[in-house]
Amino acid sequence: MSIYSVFFSPTGGTSKVNSILTGVYDDVKVIDLIENNECSENFCENDIVYIAVPSFGGRVPGYAADVISKLHGGNALAVIVCVYGNRAYEDTLIELKNIVKKAGFKTAAAVSAVAEHSIMHRFAKGRPDNDDVKQLEEFAKKVKSVLTSGNYHDVQVPGNISYKEFKGVPMIPSSNSKCTKCGICAAKCPVHAIPIESPEKTDKDKCISCMHCISVCPENARSLNKLMVEAASLKMHKLFEERKENELFI
Ligand SMILES: Cc1cc2nc3c(=O)[nH]c(=O)nc-3n(C[C@H](O)[C@H](O)[C@H](O)COP(=O)(O)O)c2cc1C
Repeated sequence: MSIYSVFFSPTGGTSKVNSILTGVYDDVKVIDLIENNECSENFCENDIVYIAVPSFGGRVPGYAADVISKLHGGNALAVIVCVYGNRAYEDTLIELKNIVKKAGFKTAAAVSAVAEHSIMHRFAKGRPDNDDVKQLEEFAKKVKSVLTSGNYHDVQVPGNISYKEFKGVPMIPSSNSKCTKCGICAAKCPVHAIPIESPEKTDKDKCISCMHCISVCPENARSLNKLMVEAASLKMHKLFEERKENELFI
């Protein structure tokens, strides 16, 4: 039996949550779906696979949906995890459950967790915080004991089958004069939206606004238009006011 942590985590919040949830095991195989977009691992019945995605507009990001749907589940047990920025995750878990089912996994548990918003950083700032970590560690122990005892069932998760429409956000990162054209952002962009020779010209049609390029830039040379982020934050702040709690479905 192997334990896997599989995640799409452009700015690190999702992988942080998955590493807390899998921290109860001694040996965990990590599969980062940005580095490994054609994962050929053949999972098998005795494996437990924690599959984590961020919520983009209440949905599984399209890139993650494509890559996860090509996994070879082999009847392995999945723990599905959705990480969101304290607004809402709407249909993310139900969509993820359907994707992993088609890929050959059985979903035995699900977690929703909050992490700092990767566009509007003032929301859920610093989360997962100490309280989140404690709670997620409790979830982790419970999931491990239920799964290893064999006493699990097909888990029900919230969401609608006719998924919410998400057309993307008009937030495209660009580079400034600190850019040294080192090529890291272009090489690491999951959807190849950044031309290596001219990283200031992000391809708007390809960019999924995941913010990975901002987080990997060693010069801090990539950013969003600050006025647009400020305007969006002001417009939406009421939706983020109340602290949302992490949830376990088992
Ligand atoms: C394009 C985009 C759309 C997002 N949509 C939502 C959303 O609908 N609800 C929400 O609460 N957070 C939303 N977020 C915030 C992320 O879900 C959250 O910051 C998550 O932790 C990002 O994961 P990462 O740190 O692994 O990249 C969005 C972020 C991005 C980049």
